[in-house]
Amino acid sequence: MAYEKKILITGGAGFIGSHVVRLFVTKYPQYQIFNLDKLTYAGNLANLVDIENASNYQFVKGDIVDSTFINELFANHQFDAVIHLAAESHVDRSITHPMDFVFTNVVGTVNLLNAAKNLWKDDFTGHLFYHVSTDEVYGSLHDGGFFTEETSYDPQSPYSASKASSDHFVRAYHNTYKLPIVVSNCSNNYGPNHFPEKLIPLFINNIRNNKPLPVYGKGENVRDWLFVKDHARAIDAVFHKGKIGETYNIGGFNEWTNIDLIKVICKTMDKKLGRAEGESEKLITYVKDRAGHDLRYAIDANKIMKELGWEPSLQFEEGIELTIDWYINNSEWLDNVTSGEYMKYYQDQYTHR
Ligand code: NAD
Ligand code: DAU
Repeated sequence: MAYEKKILITGGAGFIGSHVVRLFVTKYPQYQIFNLDKLTYAGNLANLVDIENASNYQFVKGDIVDSTFINELFANHQFDAVIHLAAESHVDRSITHPMDFVFTNVVGTVNLLNAAKNLWKDDFTGHLFYHVSTDEVYGSLHDGGFFTEETSYDPQSPYSASKASSDHFVRAYHNTYKLPIVVSNCSNNYGPNHFPEKLIPLFINNIRNNKPLPVYGKGENVRDWLFVKDHARAIDAVFHKGKIGETYNIGGFNEWTNIDLIKVICKTMDKKLGRAEGESEKLITYVKDRAGHDLRYAIDANKIMKELGWEPSLQFEEGIELTIDWYINNSEWLDNVTSGEYMKYYQDQYTHR
């Protein structure tokens, strides 16, 4: 079959990437989807078992830091478009291993930009390099207000500095070489297939196993949570309707202090596991704060809503219940990803807090 477009999605075995790959493979049979992923600890092909045999889907194992491999891949497959999600994505790991973030997030992104530029040369018609980024590049809000597309960059962690750097490179390739790009910056995602080093899946897993819930600092930091499938729908909208060279902020206007969010998770878990009310909250343990912990993120998502007609499909109460159900019903998935290396990470991260 001749496909209308060949699209390279990077990081498609990870949390958000797997939802984006599934959406594109099932919604657009006329596109051929290539999923390039290194399968780091965060990448898991079990996230995609339901679509792994789809005729318009192909998985490629590889590292975006390897420029020779990337250039060959682009030459062999002649991709029409790229949706770039591959990244080191966990702030705590960026504090202990910043260079991993420089290599994957900065060097890896520039390798992809070069490969796209070289393949598409000066004929950019019908091509697109879509870079998926984060609201953390804007820094931390202290006095109210929201991050808009005009907010100046002010990254505070090695992770957000590496993502900010990659965003700047993407925009520089548009300005300098006219590479057709689009960037989106999203708030915190939650949902199925989230690696349990991040707050929500970590706490669900710990409650399930009756382990302490390590709340950093006083639990007063604020995050703006969006259901992962709504982020995937937003990426679909930006890919198809976004204007070249533009940035779109994505978020659900759904701010929670960590401690309030944790209490919702505890209550819902008590109900689902048939425990007495208040049982899971007893596991809350205040621990040493994250170094340089950003106080508040909050996205103004008016641009994507007004210009591209996207809006979140789920209320948070519905989304969190659905998420908790998924982890309870997929305990094997949780057990698999938390065996082996994970235990060592957990010890290193939490023993001396
Ligand atoms: P994740 O850590 O779950 O997945 C990252 C994926 O990238 C994994 O499958 C991993 O194997 C792959 N990868 C890592 N290094 C690679 C390399 N060198 N070469 C090829 N593949 C590699 O991350 P996520 O939470 O799904 O985030 C995906 C993207 O969305 C990232 O760019 C992140 O910055 C951005 N983002 C995440 C959130 C969030 O809340 N999780 C919010 C906004 C933006
Ligand atoms: O805002 C978007 C970003 O959201 C993404 O770009 C990142 O890839 C993603 O990891 C996420 O970053 P956060 O640092 O906000 O997510 P995390 O789940 O690590 O932490 C959420 C909040 O919970 C944060 O304030 C730190 C706190 N926390 C986290 C962990 C892991 C705890 O209190 N205890 C914990 O054990």
